[in-house]
Amino acid sequence: MTTFSKVAIMGTGTMGPGMGAVCARAGMQVAMYDVSADAIERAKAGYDMAWGVLDRLEAPVVPGGSVRYASDVAGALDGAEFVMEAIPEKLDLKKSEFAKYEQHVGPHVILASNTSGIPATKIAADLAHPERVVVMHWSNPPHLIPMIEIVPGEKTSQATIDGTKAVIDEVGYYPCLLKKEVPGFVENRVLYAIMRECLALVDEGVVDLDELDLNVKWGIGYKLAVIPPMHLLDMAGMDIYKAVAGYLNRDLSNASEVSPTINALVEKGRLGMKTKGGLFDYTDEEIGALRSERAKKLVAVRKAIS
Ligand SMILES: NC(=O)c1ccc[n+]([C@@H]2O[C@H](COP(=O)([O-])OP(=O)(O)OC[C@H]3O[C@@H](n4cnc5c(N)ncnc54)[C@H](O)[C@@H]3O)[C@@H](O)[C@H]2O)c1
Repeated sequence: MTTFSKVAIMGTGTMGPGMGAVCARAGMQVAMYDVSADAIERAKAGYDMAWGVLDRLEAPVVPGGSVRYASDVAGALDGAEFVMEAIPEKLDLKKSEFAKYEQHVGPHVILASNTSGIPATKIAADLAHPERVVVMHWSNPPHLIPMIEIVPGEKTSQATIDGTKAVIDEVGYYPCLLKKEVPGFVENRVLYAIMRECLALVDEGVVDLDELDLNVKWGIGYKLAVIPPMHLLDMAGMDIYKAVAGYLNRDLSNASEVSPTINALVEKGRLGMKTKGGLFDYTDEEIGALRSERAKKLVAVRKAIS
């Protein structure tokens, strides 16, 4: 028996279906809801695809799990013991939807937002029970990346944190509890620090795109998956880090503006795979092949390092 047997997932776009598959797989009865009927139809295929990936990961199937698709908020929240919100990243929308959720669930039901950066304190500001609101930030694709950030707001209760952690434990993922709310939480702060430096190196003409990707993939990328940064420091030695950081930190990018390379691409409408071109060009066939090859490799790497 899981701590919470009935889970509602509100919003079934990019993130919701994979989140649902992970929870159902762990033995939870999942209700999924979206304002868009088309999104719900797409979510059914997304859920099945995520389930297939979980098969390849050999994730256990805990008895009792199920999924159903609801066409309204009340139907989705009927009997819900834990609510996961995955609707668009707009504060006003999240605030008004959370106010609705409060009308349909008891005062102790945890309302967890998958927001990428909005503080729980802001989402909960006008609610009757802000203590049950928390950020539960899954990483994309949610059925493959087994780390979830828990970011409590100023009023989030210990019971809410404990309940959220229990759900993450039960789906077999790694919870990362932050001690305070900061923009971007931890995962995106680290990622964006890496992206800023990579783009600065390209913008300054130090290295070409392919060489940069090769460097990061086979250098720090591969290494950090096995020896994460705090352990890497111990491995390298503080004396070495201090000596290098002493001169290098002053030279690293601290740009507060977005890279000119990115601004120029956005201006031209070259947004990446979604427009079949960004920093690189893609055909439809290449996009399909890349997606399945990447999922396959993520499965293999996760199995290898777990
Ligand atoms: N995509 C990512 O990589 C990623 C990663 C981590 C967190 N997040 C966060 O998760 C949340 C959802 O992101 P996404 O990428 O899945 O968005 P998305 O745009 O792909 O999907 C959002 C879904 O919510 C639906 N929706 C809109 N209003 C709704 C409402 N009032 N009630 C129910 N459904 C509604 C839309 O129809 C859509 O299907 C956002 O807060 C985002 O910042 C996204």
